[in-house]
Amino acid sequence: MAEHAKFIAGLLDPSEEALIETARMFGREFDELTAMARQATMHTLDISSVTAESREKTARLRDFKEAGTKGLLECRIQSIIIPLLGDHVLREANHFLCIMGICQN
Ligand SMILES: [Fe+2]
Repeated sequence: MAEHAKFIAGLLDPSEEALIETARMFGREFDELTAMARQATMHTLDISSVTAESREKTARLRDFKEAGTKGLLECRIQSIIIPLLGDHVLREANHFLCIMGICQN
């Protein structure tokens, strides 16, 4: 999810400053979550709080991707992201949520 957020930030038009900052924030948050998950795994700590935080932040990133894909389709967002890529990363966020036990129909 961190890589998705970072490449989304890199493919937006520089005029989309608020969206770029939001995408970068998601990138930082998922880098922190990855580090926390690695620490918990290395030290055999309870990972349930990291999983809960991952679910919550992935749901927020999924909503950001959904709004972004809609904005691309409606030509309200300036970017070199094609809507098909937006749909692809949206599906991957939903798949990740399913892996963590939260599936949507
Ligand atoms: Fe992919």
